[in-house]
Amino acid sequence: MREEVIFSGGTGPKSQTAESLHHQKLPLFQFRSFRFSFLLLIGAAFLLMYYGVSSNSLSWWESFPLHVQYQKLFNNTNKKHIPPSYKVHPKHMVLQKEPDAPPVIQYHPAYARNYQFVMDDTDACKTKAPFLVLMVPVAPSEVAARDAIRKTWGNETVVRGEQVKTLFMLGLPGGAMAELYQEKLRQESSLYHDVIQSNFLDTYLNLTTKTMVIMDWLATRCPTAVYAMKIDSDMFLNIDNLMIMLQKPDIPKLNYLTGMLMWQRPVIRSKNSKWYVPEEMFPDSTYPTYTLGMGYLFSNDLPAKLVEISKSITAFNIEDAYVGMCMKKLGLAPTAPPDPWQFKAYLSVYNRCEFSKVITYILSSAKDLLKYWTDLYKPGPPC
Ligand SMILES: *[C@@H]1O[C@H](CO)[C@@H](O)[C@H](O)[C@H]1NC(C)=O
Ligand SMILES: *[C@@H]1O[C@H](CO)[C@@H](O)[C@H](O)[C@H]1NC(C)=O
Repeated sequence: MREEVIFSGGTGPKSQTAESLHHQKLPLFQFRSFRFSFLLLIGAAFLLMYYGVSSNSLSWWESFPLHVQYQKLFNNTNKKHIPPSYKVHPKHMVLQKEPDAPPVIQYHPAYARNYQFVMDDTDACKTKAPFLVLMVPVAPSEVAARDAIRKTWGNETVVRGEQVKTLFMLGLPGGAMAELYQEKLRQESSLYHDVIQSNFLDTYLNLTTKTMVIMDWLATRCPTAVYAMKIDSDMFLNIDNLMIMLQKPDIPKLNYLTGMLMWQRPVIRSKNSKWYVPEEMFPDSTYPTYTLGMGYLFSNDLPAKLVEISKSITAFNIEDAYVGMCMKKLGLAPTAPPDPWQFKAYLSVYNRCEFSKVITYILSSAKDLLKYWTDLYKPGPPC
């Protein structure tokens, strides 16, 4: 499993993938000469040995300097991915102590049927279910992201002869602006009929709940769609290429989950990490194979199964790894896409030819989505 193990900082929403480093061309890694890589590997091996014997309290991973460096790098370059309201507040984890019992961190359950839909004014699946439903988890405040999607890939209704529908999933807005955002959502809903809202508090730590609520909606409101995709609001999606992939004869229609596969990702135990997961929630040191949260596609029989199995799986805040855990409990596993390179994460430079071939890319702003989309579909061959 290549440099991935050494470079990547862990796991979580489209975070630290080797892919990203390969494509990102960040200054630190720009001099990718063979000698540099070799020295790095030797250095890494020594560091691992050193930390392996000297540190018992921290896992080698957490104490591995490159990982820290990478996370700093990531934090600096991708600030825009994390809306300011989406900060991790450990105080939301309630510490419960019964007499004589060890402390337990209680996490809000992700079992979707604990929640109700409070806004669901879409006729998406009322008459004929679409072939593909794109479900976009988005924060109430991210109006610009929704608008950009509505003008780009979210505005596609028929792709290669198949019906497609894009819908947004939200929880309840919190904080001082809550009323304002809620009113804005009501307006959007009556204008576009593409907003679904459930009554959990929309926070970063509730992203797993949001994903499971998406699954619940698909299972109960749109069970006859053939495929669905959970795709983040900061994504470029080449929906045409996605459809070409789905129309290949050997793509399964059952128990199918695909995207950018993550193997053997270590669970982050460092408390100040965005991806921190306490052992009480997830005791293993690595996650089961999962698909990176930026955009994963699944056959629409899976949502009902995932919701059902999630009853018995403790929620933790890494939604994509949680889905991987549900898959594992179901005795299933994600499948690599026919052309794995089409699921791209980080983008360094926009390239029209490249964008005409991929399926996903993570972007840094709604503005970029509009700009690249317009450029990609202008007249003339992209390559
Ligand atoms: C979506 O596309 C249609 C034409 O295909 C256009 O009339 C409509 O304005 C577009 N919607 C948005 C939100 O841009
Ligand atoms: C998640 O949502 C529930 C239900 O609204 C809320 O009580 C809880 O505080 C939220 N959890 C976090 C960590 O924000």
